[in-house]
Amino acid sequence: MPRMSTARWLLLLVAAACAVARAQEPPAPNPAKNNPHLGNKEAIRSGMTMYRVRCADCHGLDAKGYRGPDLTALLSGEMTDERLFNTIRKGVPGTDMPPSQASDDELLLTIAYLRNLTGTPTETVTGNVDNGARIFAAQCASCHRIGLRGGRIGPDLTRIGVSRSRASLVREIRTPSEWMAPTYETVTLVTKDGQRIRGVKKNEDVFSIQVMDVRERIQGYLKSDLKEVIYEKESLMPAFGAARLNDGDLNDLVGYLTSLRGADRAAR
Ligand code: HEC
Ligand code: HEC
Repeated sequence: MPRMSTARWLLLLVAAACAVARAQEPPAPNPAKNNPHLGNKEAIRSGMTMYRVRCADCHGLDAKGYRGPDLTALLSGEMTDERLFNTIRKGVPGTDMPPSQASDDELLLTIAYLRNLTGTPTETVTGNVDNGARIFAAQCASCHRIGLRGGRIGPDLTRIGVSRSRASLVREIRTPSEWMAPTYETVTLVTKDGQRIRGVKKNEDVFSIQVMDVRERIQGYLKSDLKEVIYEKESLMPAFGAARLNDGDLNDLVGYLTSLRGADRAAR
């Protein structure tokens, strides 16, 4: 092998160093690092309009949460504006939180509005969490999983404290049919010989339908073998009215649910 000259070695070294430098070039700075709208009254008002149009449906007019979590609680925590910007831009994959198509400037206006909100967060855990856990084990775990334990008829609640507000939890427990988690539609199948199978719809196309029945069995049918498919407006989850669950127990149960923040929280 011919000896390489010192000059060629040097050239190679410089080229390698340049490649490394290029690979490590910092990404474009996060626009929220220098938000010109923070504290500006007019900007805050525009931001409020944007918030009301794009976010309030899920996070509530007062940002204290509805279907989505309480943002005032998040903002009073360690959430930085840069992270807030990225979350709004990209959404939270695999959840109801959608990515935003709005311009960078509109996002900065929205952030200026959110940062100007005052008021104490309501999303702190209240109630007797241990009692809440007991109620959950007795009344809810047959249908809902937390971590690896529990039933599969209803949604996994491992991260429910991150993804829903207190208000939506109370509403879901008292009146589950008011809002139904997508992909948990209740259906009753009536076979030609009159058998009825009630469950949660898992799949459907023109020719067939699959449901999970209340014993967690997946049942698939050709529609041509069915007499009728009844799409119900009622949730498969029973309503827990005051007679079944008094206000004190409800408060403990919701306290327990809001404490469920998943294991992956820190990793995200
Ligand atoms: C269709 C409902 C929906 C809309 C619209 C929506 N969000 Fe969300 N948002 C959610 C849900 C649900 C979560 C919880 C996601 C999860 O499970 O981690 C969330 C989470 C968040 C989080 C917290 C993420 C974290 O780190 O915990 C922020 C911040 C947020 N949303 C801000 C906004 C803003 C600002 C808007 C308007 C531009 C908006 N959201 C619009 C449903 C929504
Ligand atoms: C017979 C089964 C069953 C039981 C018992 C049951 N649930 Fe449910 N639950 C469901 C189903 C099915 C859904 C999805 C449809 C809907 O949203 O109503 C659901 C939805 C939910 C949701 C909404 C999840 C989301 O993503 O927003 C919460 C919260 C919830 N249940 C909590 C509870 C609690 C707390 C109890 C006990 C007091 C309970 N459930 C008992 C079947 C059940």
